[in-house]
Amino acid sequence: MRIIASTAELRAAIRDAHAGSVGFVPTMGYLHSGHTTLFDHARNENDLVVASIFVNPTQFGPNEDFAVYPRDPDGDAEKCRAHGVDLLFMPSVAEVYPSGHATTVTVDHLTTELCGRFRPGHFAGVATVVAKLFGMVGPQRAYFGEKDFQQLAVIRRMAFDLNIAVEVIGLPTIREEDGLARSSRNVYLSADERQVALSLASALRATRAAYRAGERSASALCDLLAATLTRHPEVALQYAELADPDSLRLLRGTTLEAGQGARAIIALQLGRTRLIDNAAIDHDDPSFQTTQAGA
Ligand code: PAJ
Repeated sequence: MRIIASTAELRAAIRDAHAGSVGFVPTMGYLHSGHTTLFDHARNENDLVVASIFVNPTQFGPNEDFAVYPRDPDGDAEKCRAHGVDLLFMPSVAEVYPSGHATTVTVDHLTTELCGRFRPGHFAGVATVVAKLFGMVGPQRAYFGEKDFQQLAVIRRMAFDLNIAVEVIGLPTIREEDGLARSSRNVYLSADERQVALSLASALRATRAAYRAGERSASALCDLLAATLTRHPEVALQYAELADPDSLRLLRGTTLEAGQGARAIIALQLGRTRLIDNAAIDHDDPSFQTTQAGA
């Protein structure tokens, strides 16, 4: 595995590999099995695997955790190597945003609700950096987690709208044994908060169970989702919604019809940590099958 910091060198390495297909996994590092599962899929499906680690300043708000975002470059490189990454791109901020950088990619509609409401400018930062990384790497396939469900929808839309010839592949959320979705930010949680954080997965399970039992009022399902989360006084709920899985249109106030897709999506603040999670409501969600029997 080669570790590369310059865009010119990255391009040359990809060109010289003469690979039939390039699979790409962008990350912000502090890697866990949510990330390495993406590497494994990329490894299985492509000749050359490129990963990036770049904590992207433009997707963090002024009061967010950019400065303290956890970093472990040596440990990360080891994980990339172990999971078959060929080229690991670790650019500096100046390499990605040289002085004079003046272009921002904004994706409308999909970014107004859910996390977009609470993190102004976040998805423009994500769409911009991912568009730039696609431009640098030129992958045939790029791999993202459903953990960040709105991000995945925004990136699909961005790639389609900008005519970028990449297949955007979404993969199920990887969870801890007890159901907590893996996240680099889980390291911020105290032992007590770690227990409270289980309420995200339990709220999603409860909502899935209510749907299975016949509840079709989207508002009732959203209320159940919220009620399970706000039982804990430490939780500052940001949103608990059902959304159309493709358009992300909010479904509150509607009756779910047979065959209609619905995704439960939640975000909350727990102490200094912001946590998000989501699950399919209308069909089996693979991310709940291994950790939560019957859910
Ligand atoms: P990061 O949070 O490091 O996540 C990188 C990729 O790993 C994303 O596609 C994310 O959805 C996926 N991922 C994280 N936790 C996961 C889990 N528990 N299960 C499955 N997949 C998981 O998302 C970003 O970085 C950035 O916004 C980025 C796309 C790199 C742009 O800066």
